[in-house]
Amino acid sequence: MSTETDNIVISAISLSKAYQIEDTQVPVLKDINLTITAGQFVVLCGPSGSGKTTLINIISGIDKPTTGKILVFKEDLAEQNEDFLADFRCNQVGFVFQAYNLVSTLTVAENIAFPMEWKRHNPKNIEKHVQELIEKLGLEHRANHFPAQLSGGEQQRVAFARALANDPPLLLADEPTGNLDAKNGQKIIEILQGLKAEGKTIIVSTHDEEIMRLADQKVCLDEGKLATQNE
Ligand SMILES: Nc1ncnc2c1ncn2[C@@H]1O[C@H](COP(=O)(O)OP(=O)(O)OP(=O)(O)O)[C@@H](O)[C@H]1O
Ligand SMILES: [Mg+2]
Repeated sequence: MSTETDNIVISAISLSKAYQIEDTQVPVLKDINLTITAGQFVVLCGPSGSGKTTLINIISGIDKPTTGKILVFKEDLAEQNEDFLADFRCNQVGFVFQAYNLVSTLTVAENIAFPMEWKRHNPKNIEKHVQELIEKLGLEHRANHFPAQLSGGEQQRVAFARALANDPPLLLADEPTGNLDAKNGQKIIEILQGLKAEGKTIIVSTHDEEIMRLADQKVCLDEGKLATQNE
């Protein structure tokens, strides 16, 4: 029988982060307590510099808290070694960066295939799944193009396809519509709606009102502190 705690995907417990700049510690996240359960669509909001990207990087294991804990799928990420974290980032979490971060020397199809190749999937299965993701994200006409040949909206859709390649249960997207015009932004919102309907746990940092309307939980940061948290 499942209980409430079985559904917890992320717990932050008195989490703080400070960056060391020369002799001074600059606090960025301050005593964050947070619980996110499976299937929740969480919007992370707050002004520029409030710590959204820092928190997302800590949830993905890219960065570590200075004090306090972050548990993701019950694992304390700060205690894990690089092999565990690399595997965790490949299988458990899909990450869409604030600036798409595609590999410029790989085509669209190769960028999407990359996480599956890292897992050494059978090439036939990779090819089939890449094709499915290309269709899902409307990139059919772009499969053999390089990132520099794409619009911002197309690059962002490739970034989503790559993040979804290994079907992670948790998706993190850092301002996914921040650099897009309204039409391309709308496509990303539709993708997020579809992923929400599939039951993925999604954390999106955004200022976009329409994405905020999808939220089951809003986590607002103000100068590194949790300002409001509504369900
Ligand atoms: N590696 C770093 N070294 C020092 N300070 C950093 C580092 N990364 C971020 N910061 C500082 O931490 C604070 C929070 O940055 P962060 O990128 O998390 O904000 P954000 O809410 O994502 O902002 P934006 O909306 O502009 O993306 C900022 O003051 C930033 O200058
Ligand atoms: Mg940011």
